[in-house]
Order: sequence, then structure tokens, then C-alpha cells
Amino acid sequence: MTELTNLKQIALVTGASSGLGKAIALRLVEQNYHVVLASRNIEKLEIVKNEIENKSGKCTIIPTDVSLESSVQHLVTECDKLGFVGTVINNSGLGLFSKISNHSTEDWDQMINVNLRGAFLISRGFIPAMQNRKQGTLVFVNSVAGKWGYPFSAGYVASKYGLRGLADSLRNELRSDHIKVTSVHPGAVDSPFWDNTKANFPRHEMMQDDDVAKMVVQAITLSGNAVNEEIVIRRVQGDF
Ligand SMILES: NC(=O)c1ccc[n+]([C@@H]2O[C@H](COP(=O)([O-])OP(=O)(O)OC[C@H]3O[C@@H](n4cnc5c(N)ncnc54)[C@H](OP(=O)(O)O)[C@@H]3O)[C@@H](O)[C@H]2O)c1
Repeated sequence: MTELTNLKQIALVTGASSGLGKAIALRLVEQNYHVVLASRNIEKLEIVKNEIENKSGKCTIIPTDVSLESSVQHLVTECDKLGFVGTVINNSGLGLFSKISNHSTEDWDQMINVNLRGAFLISRGFIPAMQNRKQGTLVFVNSVAGKWGYPFSAGYVASKYGLRGLADSLRNELRSDHIKVTSVHPGAVDSPFWDNTKANFPRHEMMQDDDVAKMVVQAITLSGNAVNEEIVIRRVQGDF
């Protein structure tokens, strides 16, 4: 615990093993946060941890499957041992795209379970400590698919509209507890997200993960009695 005294606060990043989560974790470390790296792939998390420690940053890996209640409960218990988690970045997610006639139930369930149920379980686990302290920041990494209904994306769009609803509801429920809630809606970002999708968008024309990470960290470090409630960040040229 003494190790944490010089640090600003503890931030949890789910899905920190790659893409946006990794980029956000690296930017948070620059701002002197102790970052908890949570996702399933321990080898990838170790790579992120090494990168952070090479920059003299502090982090802790807690392997987590956000879709599993027992795994999220374990994460909450382990984080309690570190101290107060004042910032939670709900970022874990995946997109599986197809025509509705080919949309498998398994793909639907996986997206709802990770993108939406996971964010619910994480939020429910960490909000009580924030309410006790009357402070905290919750970020939901959503998508432009949480604002507009793109074709061939029924399950993904449904999960992200649900995520926007979850964030909007929590924002209003938690105002009196001084908990800030931010929804981030990025357009296409070059990350492993696209590795196994049928979408054939040119990766080199997408935004970079760090473009979004910088904006997220800027939003959550907004001082005083102000909150950036919703961020839409897109390519200058618009969607593909
Ligand atoms: N890339 C884009 O174009 C784009 C655009 C808008 C929004 N987003 C959103 O941004 C977020 C991050 O995506 P990304 O682009 O960074 O993709 P990514 O590189 O594929 O990262 C996804 C992350 O989610 C984690 N994850 C997946 N299932 C999980 C589970 N059951 N439990 C815990 N973690 C899990 C993965 O970690 P493990 O495999 O280690 O579990 C990984 O760290 C997602 O919510 C996505 O919807 C992406």
C-alpha cells in the first residue's frame, strides 16, 4: 500500500491486453495512475506490464473474464487489497459481424455477455466504494455503433446501444454521489478487434488507438465540478 501513496489513484482498465485498453493503460500510467490490467490473456497482459514497468510505471495484472460473475467478484476482492479504485474503464469488448440470417446465437450471446453484461458486473462491483467516498469516474468505451444502427451488425449494435443505456442510467443515478460517467463513442480504430472479422476496411486508414486513448485520459482528468459526458471521435473522413 505504501508503494501507492505517491501515485494519483488506482485505475482499472478492462480489456487491457491489446488495442484501446492497452493504449489507455499506457496513457494513464503517464498521468501517474497505478493501473490494474484486467482481461483473460495473461501472456498479453504480461507484455503490457513489461512495457509499463520499462517506463517506470506501476501496474497490477488481475486475470479476469468480465462476462463471469465469479471472475468479476475475484477482481473486486483483489482490487480491494490494493486500495480504492477511483477510475474504472469499461473497455472489454468484441464485434462479430454478419447478415441477420447468418447471425449465430453464440455470437449474439458472446457480444451481449462481454460488451454489456460485463460492463454491468464491473460497474456493480466497483460503484459501492465510489459511493462511500463520494467520488469516482466510470468510463464506458462504447462505439459509434452505440449511437447509430449500422447494417450487418445487429448483435454488436444491440450490445452497444444497451451499453449507452447502462451508462446514461448510471450517470443520472450517481450524480448525487459525485461520480462522473463518460461514454466514449469511437469510429473505426486500427486494432486486433478487426483481425477475425469479415469487414474489409483498410486498416491503415483507421484512427490509431492512441488517438482515442489521449482523448479518454483528457476527459477523465478534467478538473473540478465538470464531466465530459459523451465523446464521439471519428475519422475526419467519417465512417467507412
Ligand atoms: N477497434 C475499433 O474499431 C473500435 C471502435 C469503436 C469501439 N471499439 C470498442 O473498443 C473496445 C476495445 O476494442 P479494441 O479495438 O481495443 O479491440 P481488441 O484489441 O480486440 O481488444 C479487446 C479487449 O477486450 C478483451 N476481452 C474480450 N473478451 C473479454 C472477456 N470475456 N473478459 C475480459 N476481457 C475481454 C480482450 O482481452 P483478452 O482477450 O485478454 O480477454 C482485449 O483486451 C471494445 O469495447 C470495442 O467494442 C473498438
